[in-house]
Amino acid sequence: MAGYVVLGAQWGDEGKGKAIDLLADRADAVVRSQGGNNAGHTVVVNGEKFILHLLPSGVLSEKADCFIGNGVVVDPKVLKKEIETLKVKGGRTNHIYISDRAHVILPYHIEIDGILEEEKGENKIGTTKRGIGPCYMDKYGRIGIRMGDLKDRAHFESKIKLALNEKALRFPNHKFSLELVMSEYDAYISEIKPRIIDTIPVIHKLMREDKLILLEGAQATMLDIDFGTYPYVTSSNPTVGSAMCGSGVNPFFIKKVIGVSKAYVTRVGEGSFPTELFNETGSHIQNIGREFGSTTGRPRRCGWLDMVALKYAVSLNGITDIIITKLDVLSGISEIKVCVAYELNGVQIDYVPALMEEFTSAKAIYQTFTGWNEDISQIREFDKLPVNAQNYMLAVEKMAGSKISMISVGPDRHQNIMREALI
Ligand code: GDP
Ligand code: IMO
Ligand code: MG
Repeated sequence: MAGYVVLGAQWGDEGKGKAIDLLADRADAVVRSQGGNNAGHTVVVNGEKFILHLLPSGVLSEKADCFIGNGVVVDPKVLKKEIETLKVKGGRTNHIYISDRAHVILPYHIEIDGILEEEKGENKIGTTKRGIGPCYMDKYGRIGIRMGDLKDRAHFESKIKLALNEKALRFPNHKFSLELVMSEYDAYISEIKPRIIDTIPVIHKLMREDKLILLEGAQATMLDIDFGTYPYVTSSNPTVGSAMCGSGVNPFFIKKVIGVSKAYVTRVGEGSFPTELFNETGSHIQNIGREFGSTTGRPRRCGWLDMVALKYAVSLNGITDIIITKLDVLSGISEIKVCVAYELNGVQIDYVPALMEEFTSAKAIYQTFTGWNEDISQIREFDKLPVNAQNYMLAVEKMAGSKISMISVGPDRHQNIMREALI
C-alpha cells in the first residue's frame, strides 16, 4: 500500500477524472491537493456522466474516503451544490471531508478575477473566472480566509470585514458586499461545517496504517505557475510537489506518479500552443473528441501531440507510468503528426523555453505517422489494435522515456487497454 499521484501531463483535461475513478476502487482515500473549481473532471459510469469540480473523482467509489486537501481553494457554494447533486443521483456523501487549512473562495474573489481580466484587455489569461487567482493571491499574501475560519459565524464575519477593507483600498472603484458574503454563508454552512476537519492527522494515520492513497491533481504541468507557459497558467502548482504540499503526504510514501496525456493536445484559454491546428483536422479532432470545456463549455483548441512538452512533464514530475487517453479520436486521420522538437531562431531545441516571447516564436518540428481507419473503442488488448496505432503508441513511449501502462479508447470506465497494472 502506498501513495499514487495522478496528474495532468499537458494543458489540462487529459482525462484525470476517468483515471482516478478507475483506480479509486482499490483506494482507501482519494485526496484533491490543489486548484479549485476551475477543474472539471469527468467520470462516466455505464453511460451516466458526472462532472466533478471540487469533489475528488473517487467520490463514486464504494470504499474510498474523499478529502479536499489543504492546497485546494474551495468555493463553499459550489461545494454544497456538488454534494447535493451527488445526493440526488443516489451517491453516498458521508465520506467527504475538507481540510480546515484550505483557503476559501469568496464572492469578491470571483469579482476580482473578472476585474483583473478586464484590466489586462487583450493580454487577458482567459481564466475560468472562478476566483482562483485572487484567492491564491490572498493565501500567499497571508491575508486569506481558511475553511477553519468558517466554523464560527462571528469570527468569520470579523475576518470578512477586514478582507473587504483591504479590497476597497486595492479596488477603490468597486463596491464589494458584506451582505452578499454573509447571505451565501448562511446558505451553505450547515452542509459544509460538519465536514471541515484537520485532515493532516487523518491522512498521517492512513499512511501509518499503510493504506492506499490516491492523490488527484487538477489542471496540468504546462499550466503550472512555475513550470508552465507563464503568465498563461493557473495560480497553483499542478506538478508533483503539490501532491505533497497540498495534502500532507510525504514523498517517501509515493510509489508511482501517473501522468495522463491525450493522444493529441488540447488547450482552453489564451497562451501559445506550438502544435495548434487551425485547419479541418483540428476541427475534426474537436468534433470527434467533443472538445468543449467541462467547466466553462468553451471550445478547446486542438493540436498534435507535443513530445517536447510531454518529455518535460515526465522529467519534472518523475512520471513512472503514462496513461494515454482518447486514442480512439484519432481513428480515420490518414496522417498523424507528433512534434519532436522546436525550432527557435533557426536553432533546433528540445526544451520548453521559459520566456513567453520565445515560446510563442518556437515552431514545431514534426515526425509523421501513418494513421488507421478502424474504430478502436471496443478493443481491450494492445495486440488487437491496428498495427499503425500500435506503432504510434510505441514511438510515443520510446520518445517519452516512460512506459505507457494504459491506453483509454473511450470515456467509459471500462474502455481501456491495460498494458501493465497501475496499482
Ligand atoms: P480532466 O479534467 O483531466 O479530468 O478531463 P475532462 O473530464 O475535463 O476531459 C476529458 C474528456 O474526455 C471527458 O469528456 C471524458 O469523458 C473524455 N474522455 C476521457 N477518456 C477518453 C477516451 O479515451 N476517449 C474519448 N473519446 N473520450 C474520453
Ligand atoms: P482540469 O483539472 C484546462 C486554464 C484556464 C486558463 C488558465 C487560468 O479540468 O484539467 P484559472 O481559472 O485557473 O485562473 O485559469 O488555466 N485552466 C484549465 N484548463 N483544464 C483545467 O482543469 C483548467 N483549469 C484552469 O482555461 O487558461
Ligand atoms: Mg477538465
